[in-house]
Parts: sequence; C-alpha cells; structure tokens
Amino acid sequence: MNLHDQYERPLRDLRISVTDRCNFRCPYCMPAEIFNERYQFLPKPHLLTFEEITRLTRIIVRLGALKIRLTGGEPLLRQDIEKLVAMLNALEGVDDLAMTTNAFLLPQKIDALKAAGLRRLTISLDTLDDEIFRQMNGGRSGVDKVLAGIYAAETAGFTPLKINAVVQRGVNDHRLVDLARFFKARGHILRFIEYMDVGNMNGWRMEQVVSAAEIVETVDAELPLEPVAGNYFGEVARRYRYLDGEGEIGLISSVTQPFCGSCTRMRLSPEGQIFTCLFAIEGASLRDPLRAGATDDELEAIIRATWGERIDRYSEIRSSLTEEVRDRRKKVEMYHIGG
Ligand code: GTP
Ligand code: 5AD
Ligand code: SF4
Ligand code: SF4
Repeated sequence: MNLHDQYERPLRDLRISVTDRCNFRCPYCMPAEIFNERYQFLPKPHLLTFEEITRLTRIIVRLGALKIRLTGGEPLLRQDIEKLVAMLNALEGVDDLAMTTNAFLLPQKIDALKAAGLRRLTISLDTLDDEIFRQMNGGRSGVDKVLAGIYAAETAGFTPLKINAVVQRGVNDHRLVDLARFFKARGHILRFIEYMDVGNMNGWRMEQVVSAAEIVETVDAELPLEPVAGNYFGEVARRYRYLDGEGEIGLISSVTQPFCGSCTRMRLSPEGQIFTCLFAIEGASLRDPLRAGATDDELEAIIRATWGERIDRYSEIRSSLTEEVRDRRKKVEMYHIGG
C-alpha cells in the first residue's frame, strides 16, 4: 500500500547515508575548522549494520520506495560497502540502485561495486581547476584523483555518469563552461547545484548563490542549450540539451526554483533515523525500536506515521524566513544525511 504525506506526495526514493565520515573537507559541507582531529564522529556500534539497513530498506521499499541511493559522508569509506550493495540489490522491488561519491577511492572499489550490482554512479566534481578544487575540498585531493575515479567508472561501464558541481559565487563560477565542455565531450551528464544553506556550519549567504538561470545563461552563451521535459515526476534536476544534439546538463535549483511540491525523498541516517527533509531539524529513530526487538510491522507503523505526518517544504519557505530565524533553526548537516 502506497504512502502519501500531508501534501499527497508519495514516498518514492530512499537516500541511505552509510557513514558520517568523509576524506574531504569541502568548506560548504564539512569545514575543516569544525571537523578536525577532535571532532567526534559516530562510534561504530551506533551505526546501523548492513543487516539492519537491509531490513529497514525492505520495509521502506514495501511502502513504495523504488529508487535507492547510497550516500554519506563518503560512502566508499564504509568498510565492505560492496556487501551492502549486493544485499540491497537482492531485494525485490528495487528499481534503481545508485551511489553518490567523491570518487577518491573509486579506482580500487569500482570492480567490486559493479560485481555487487550497483547500477548508477554520481560523482562530485566542482571544477577542473586544480587550485580551486583543492580549496573546495579542504586540500584533500587534486582533480587528477577524481578524474582517475571517473575513468575507472567509465571503463567499468557506468556510463553515462552524472557529475555534480556545486557553484559558489567568486569561487568556481568563472570556470563553468570548461567543465561543461569536458563532460559533454565524454558523454556524461553534468549537473550544476545551487549552493544551499544545508545545516548550520557552512556560513551560507544568499550572495554566494549563483542562480540556475544565470548558470544556464553562462553556458548557453558558449554552448547553446534548450530546455527538455523531465524524465519522471519528482526529478530533482531541470534538464537542458545542447542544441548541437550532443548531450545534456541538469540544474539543481533548490534555492531559486524549489521543487518541494514533488519531493518524494526519505533519508536514512547512519545511526538509523529517518528524515523527511534535507533541512529537517530532527529525525525519527528506527534503530532504537529495532534494537529493542520491534517487529517489521511495528517498524512499518513508525515509518508510515512519520511520512503520513510530513509537511516539509523548507526550500519553498526559505525566502520568507528572516536571516535570524534561519540562523536559529538547528538543521541536520549534509554529511549526516548525504544531500
Ligand atoms: P538522480 O538524478 O535520480 O540520479 O538523483 P539525484 O539528483 O537525487 O541524486 P544526487 O545525490 O546526485 O542529488 C543531487 C543533489 O541534489 C544532492 O546532492 C543535493 O545537493 C540535491 N538534492 C537532492 N535531493 C534534494 C532534495 O530533496 N532537496 C534539496 N533541496 N536538494 C536536493
Ligand atoms: N549546497 C549544495 N550542494 C552541496 N553538496 C554538499 N553540500 C552542499 C551545499 N551546501 C553536494 C555535494 C555532492 C552532493 C551530495 O551534495 O557536492 O555533490
Ligand atoms: Fe565529503 Fe561530499 Fe561533504 Fe565534500 S560534499 S565534505 S566530499 S560529503
Ligand atoms: Fe524535499 Fe525538503 Fe528539499 Fe523541499 S527542501 S525538496 S521538502 S528535501
């Protein structure tokens, strides 16, 4: 039986964050001054085991989720992640099984992921400029490492890839066209993401956001584009195709053109809480009842109630909130629920 929330939005996607750790320190997500050696990441016993994740996923899939995405933090840091991929791949009713990664560890993991049944990959890469890229990942990686991951994914047959690039004014917004040209030539789908006020740690300011409209204008001036209809209800990215017939890009415009009206995503955190919005303040714990011996039916009842009560539409109300109210709102962090 399919579930609907208070605005009649069905549950269709499950984003599973498998770890709160990351080997990068992108200032817009995990600023290095906060996530330093003293930062306490979740201790291992707090993390859901693969068996627990698989059990919860089975229940959530039964309630209507068709698409599963593994995220983090950085999902490849979770030991033996391919085992989880294989377990989820074996579940009945899963239409899509994807992962979003920074690709640093991909060359050594790609064959195992493919063999385990991973179907699609999204790789984050904000710029091809090495110096800017280092600045955007806290000095943890050069562009070469991510490209090596991309090439490994191509060789393993994960094409087309989706490439995510967060755009920040004054940081990487003067290097958008060469990024577009590079991925157009390789046949991948580049998606530009408007910089978002996820969490409370990145010091987000509206002036740092480059709007999707502006991004399209910049790319279109050199590589002419036209809008294309979406692939399916609830698609996050707005699509544009190159007029020369080769390839497309996507725009994820959560700030200037919110898409809450068709948001069908539930998020599962590494320690087993479900969140009904990327900008949520709190989640509902499934781990505690699960470890206290709850049956599948009891867990299902919690999930049903949580989704059934859902009224989240943060991106649509963001602009009506004063800066002060926005700053006071204690939101969950991106690295915790994987975007
Ligand atoms: P597909 O297009 O189906 O492959 O997946 P996707 O676009 O959902 O996956 P991906 O992890 O690449 O998401 C792209 C980015 O869009 C995320 O990392 C977030 O930055 C943003 N995003 C995804 N879902 C939401 C959402 O529900 N709300 C908001 N505000 N942003 C989202
Ligand atoms: N705004 C927009 N995108 C972000 N991401 C991480 N933090 C932010 C933010 N504050 C992106 C990552 C990755 C995806 C999961 O989300 O770069 O591609
Ligand atoms: Fe890590 Fe991705 Fe966050 Fe960067 S955006 S710190 S790669 S989880
Ligand atoms: Fe969905 Fe919340 Fe993003 Fe709106 S802001 S699209 S409700 S996750």
